[in-house]
Formats: sequence, C-alpha cells, structure tokens
Amino acid sequence: MSSTPAQSSFSALDAVPLDAIYNLKELFAADKYEKKVILGSGVYRNDNSKPWVLPTVEKAEEAVSKAQDSGRYEYLPITGYAPFHAAARDLLFGPLGEKVSRVVSVHTLAGTGANSLGARFLKGALKPSAVWLSDPTWVNHYNIWKLVGVEVKTYPYWNVTKRGLEFEKLIDHLENKAAPGDVIVLHACAHNLTGVDPTKEQWKAIAYLCEKKGLFPFFDCAYLGFASGNLDEDAWAVRYFESRGTLEMAVAQSFSKNMGLYGERVGAFHLLAASTDAASKAKGHLPRLQRGQVSQPPTRGARIAATILTAPDLFQSWLLDLQEMSARIKNMRQMLRDELMFLGTPGNWDHITSQIGMFSYTGLTPEQVAVLQADSHVYLLNSGRVSIAGCNDHEECKVYSGSNRRCGKKIAELDDVETVEASLFYDFKG
Ligand code: LMR
Repeated sequence: MSSTPAQSSFSALDAVPLDAIYNLKELFAADKYEKKVILGSGVYRNDNSKPWVLPTVEKAEEAVSKAQDSGRYEYLPITGYAPFHAAARDLLFGPLGEKVSRVVSVHTLAGTGANSLGARFLKGALKPSAVWLSDPTWVNHYNIWKLVGVEVKTYPYWNVTKRGLEFEKLIDHLENKAAPGDVIVLHACAHNLTGVDPTKEQWKAIAYLCEKKGLFPFFDCAYLGFASGNLDEDAWAVRYFESRGTLEMAVAQSFSKNMGLYGERVGAFHLLAASTDAASKAKGHLPRLQRGQVSQPPTRGARIAATILTAPDLFQSWLLDLQEMSARIKNMRQMLRDELMFLGTPGNWDHITSQIGMFSYTGLTPEQVAVLQADSHVYLLNSGRVSIAGCNDHEECKVYSGSNRRCGKKIAELDDVETVEASLFYDFKG
C-alpha cells in the first residue's frame, strides 16, 4: 500500500509567478492561431521571423570544430576561457595599456551570470545600503539583486509624457537619496526596456554624480555593436567612465545578442579597480563565488566568440553582421512609425524611431496589451515593451495592411488617445 507524508514542507511557500518574459512565451506557444505574433523576448529575428545564425558564427563554428583537440571536454579554469575573456575586455574597453593590470575579468554564463556574479561580489565587497535600478529596467535585474539580498531601490528614468529620458529627476533623485557605496546599475547602450539612452553630455553628468556621491557604477552591456551597428559608439559610456580615471566600476557583458549565441550562454564580468593590488584581491574572491555556483562556465560558445574576436577576417565579417542586424531593426522601426503616421494616429510616434536597440517602449498600458493579446494574438510584455526584431514587412503579417487599414477611419472617430493606441493594435487580425 502506498502512503504519502501527512504534510508537505512546501505547502506554505508563496506562489511565485513565472518570469514575465518566459510566461509570455508559454502563452504564445499555447495559442493555436496561425498568424499569431510574438514581440516579447529580446531575440533577433530575420524577415521570416526566424532565428538568424550569424554567417560569421557559422564560419567560427567550422574553425572551432577543425581545431577540436582531446581536451575539448575538459574543465576550463574557474574563471573560464582566458582567450575569450581577455578579448571581450579589449573589445569593451579598447586598449588599456598598463591599466590592464587593474582589470579582473571572469568568463560567465552570459549576461545573467555576469550580473549575478557581480551582484554577489559587490554585496560582499561594498556592503551597499541599496542597489539603484532604473525605473523601468530588465525584469531580471530585480530578481538577481533581490536573490542576493540587497535592498532594491529605483531611480526615475522614463518620462511617460515625452516618452524619453527623465534626466533631471534621475540626477536629483540619486543626488538626494543614494548613499556612498551604493551600487547604481546603468545600461551601457540600448536601454532594456525603453530603448532610450542618455546623451554623451548626460553620461558625463552621471559619471560626475557617481564620483561626487561615491556611487559604484555597474554597467549592464548586452548590446555592444548591436545597438548602433558601431562598437565604438556603443562602448562610449563605459569607456568614458573608465577614461575619467577617478572611478572604480564593473561591467556585465553578454554575447547573446551581438553574436546570436543565446543558448550558448557566453558572457563576462569585468571589474576595474583603483589599483593593481585591489584588483589582485578581487581576483581571489571572484573565482570563489563562481566555484560555489557553477564551478566553471562551458567551453564551446566562448571558443566560438574568441575565434571571432581574435581572427581579423572573422572580426571584419562580424562587423558586417552587426550592421545587418541593426539596420533591419532601424528599418522595422521606421516602417512601424510610417504606418502609424499613415493612419493619422493621434499622438506623437517619434519615439519609435528615436529609441535605439532591440526594444521600443510603446507606452501601451497593461490593459491595452491584454486586448492585443486576446483579440489580435499579438504578444508583448505588460510593460508595453516591444521587441522590434519580431516585426516584419510581410503583407500577410503587416500590422495595418489591407482591410485593417480601416482602423485609420476608426481612429479619426475617437478622441481618447489611449483608446486610439489600443485600437491600432486591436485591429491587427489576419
Ligand atoms: C529580454 O530582455 O527579453 C532578453 O534579455 C531575454 C531575457 O532572458 O530576458
């Protein structure tokens, strides 16, 4: 006769909802509608809405396969594949000269691994009273820092009315509320969720604030080269902070998007310390944290990335891939905005093209997002974030093509902008 314990130790656990991005994928998978569209997760898609293996990655895969040696399944060092994390550091910071001895780099499980390793390290080393995240930010930033046990606070970032950066409030808030030693998480380029980045002058003011208040800048850099198609442009903020010479800082770097290596989990954590001695101390702590969590990262993706970063012909070819991806995204932005203008949609849609990178923060409300999903089978995050790469210009999928263009008339009859915005998407039916 089978028996079960009288009582479970887990029944008192709180119900925890699935991560918003993954929950959306599950809802999408369960939808049987043929022309359903997902604009949720930040993954690049080609014109056929299919994943795109970068041609340069295919070439690098061949090179890695040919070079396979009997050690290919051996454990890497705890800090990972050294040719990879050194090349990743150089890509990010550019030539550092003697300052390189002040940088500690660790190969991590993509950007999440780097954010998480950084959070655990900074909690122990700085004992911050809080971490400051932009409002809004990538959903996993909250998760990572809460799991680490550091109090999460937010700084203003998005101005809903102008659909742009809330710069003065950002500075004012941190100036008055943050404490020395607190960590401030910054998006190096292509801010995830909003696609809105500070200007160079604004970055300078943020760097100055970090110096003045003793805040520790921790950059999340997931879109290097992917945002503008130009590596130097996308690395500008990180390099500027470094060039001031007065700041210690950290960077979480990912190759998921810019090399399309999502599932290979390729990333790096970099710490820039004030002295070589301080860097050596950190070099002792970071492997211990990594060892306790993943022992060491996997090999293959890092070998592919290192091959691309160190072979001049592959590197040049990768630059072309980056331009292709960023150009397609810019084109999709333009088409979406043009269509909204064509329809005479009330409101200003300039933010669709002025935002940068993978996402557009549309300003749609959760209620409007729910309508889109239920009636039109278009899936986006409740925050109103759209993954622009998920759009395409196919007639059958075109949001406002053919008979759906009738919504232009409908819009003219409505005077409530919020309802109008919902109606635009609402009309997206095959
Ligand atoms: C996203 O923001 O959609 C991506 O970074 C994917 C993820 O894992 O969250």
